Amino acid sequence: MEKGFILWFTGLSGSGKTTISKALEPELKARGCKVEILDGDVVRTHLSKGLGFSKEDRDTNILRIGFVANLLSRNGVVAITAAISPYQAIRDEVRARSSNFVEVYVKAPLEVCEARDVKGLYAKARAGEIKGFTGIDDPYEEPPNPEIICYTDGESVAESVTKILSKLEELGYI
Ligand code: ADX
Repeated sequence: MEKGFILWFTGLSGSGKTTISKALEPELKARGCKVEILDGDVVRTHLSKGLGFSKEDRDTNILRIGFVANLLSRNGVVAITAAISPYQAIRDEVRARSSNFVEVYVKAPLEVCEARDVKGLYAKARAGEIKGFTGIDDPYEEPPNPEIICYTDGESVAESVTKILSKLEELGYI
């Protein structure tokens, strides 16, 4: 059976987690991997429907994503997760519960994410229409030791994908 693992993206809203994970998927499939993407926005319409953005609800969301990612990865699937996952302690907890966790920090300055404002939510947060928005009035704890950092304000999607594939090769996952 193929070796499964968890590829855990973390980063601000608009940093590029979804974009990179979607670009990575066909590359992994071309290398014979089975792949599932657990995207924050999608998970919140199904598995985590009804959860909000308090610390408690975000932690619950992350533990659920981690739980499913574990089930998948131990059965030979590459489980890619793309949720903000702003809290270090809960990311560490998910890492501790798995044996094949690769953390990717998708890093872009807040100003860049805000200027992109893909979903128009930063403007709403600045206007006070959304409270507790990550990076504005809610914390994002940077990962101190991620396996990979993608600097999406300086590198292209293709460069980020190449960087991730190289690291996965180096780690012996692909
Ligand atoms: S997490 O904190 O629990 O990891 P998740 O990735 O699932 O977050 O969801 C984040 C997405 O929800 C954002 O990209 C954005 O589209 C939307 N969202 C709505 N309200 C908020 C908020 N208060 N903070 C951050 N994201 C929010």
